[in-house]
Amino acid sequence: MEILGIDIGGSGIKGAPVEVQTGEFTRDRLRMDTPEPAAPRPVAAVVAQIVRHFEWDGPVGVTFPGVVIDGVTHTAANLTDEWRGLQARDLLADESGVPVTLLNDADAAGVAEMTHGAGRGHGGTVVLVTLGTGIGTALFTDGTLVPNTEFGHIEIRGKDAESRASAHAREVHEWSWPKWAEKVEEYLRRLEDLVWPSLIIVGGGVSKNAEHFLPHLKEVRTPVVAAELHNSAGIVGAAMAAGPRAQTG
Ligand code: BGC
Repeated sequence: MEILGIDIGGSGIKGAPVEVQTGEFTRDRLRMDTPEPAAPRPVAAVVAQIVRHFEWDGPVGVTFPGVVIDGVTHTAANLTDEWRGLQARDLLADESGVPVTLLNDADAAGVAEMTHGAGRGHGGTVVLVTLGTGIGTALFTDGTLVPNTEFGHIEIRGKDAESRASAHAREVHEWSWPKWAEKVEEYLRRLEDLVWPSLIIVGGGVSKNAEHFLPHLKEVRTPVVAAELHNSAGIVGAAMAAGPRAQTG
């Protein structure tokens, strides 16, 4: 079954139709800039444009970089405040004229990795960490998602963890890979002490450069692997969430 997946990020909004059984894109991905400021209406207009570009009239899965419960967006650390408490799923559905399933971006990426990527067949406690504009997390217990974990915002040395260890922080501070890896290592050590996972999957665009930082994470006791779907994971997971057997709303 083909479903359109759309990933709303801090800098880009990306979409592609996905064959959900295989996790493959069936057409080339379309990327558009995230409007600035990233307020609900302009973002919804871009989502609608992507839906029209693919001439889509079936279900659409959309990711959001914040907590989403029953279509309501509760946090939006890297978008505007108007998203807080908004029934965003209905706004997106009204703007684009198609049924929308909305879920947290890291949760979507995690679902995709657990089925089609680095977490395939892995039981126990698994945590996926996306290092991008912010830090997102997805927690799985025997393959089942515990939605909306926000471990990207644990406090480290008095600061929000994502302001120290996200990919964005590396760029802003112009840190070398080893220097940034120290921050990531400290973050993952805190995280593993909180959830005691048997596997940590590092995702986000930066997972394409895993060889530059994974080898530096020597003090993390949990096995750490790079995500396999890289930047496509959000789109694939969004499409899967909107599929027939998914339960997220
Ligand atoms: C948000 C998370 C999101 C992550 C990645 C964080 O700032 O709080 O919900 O998953 O960024 O976009």
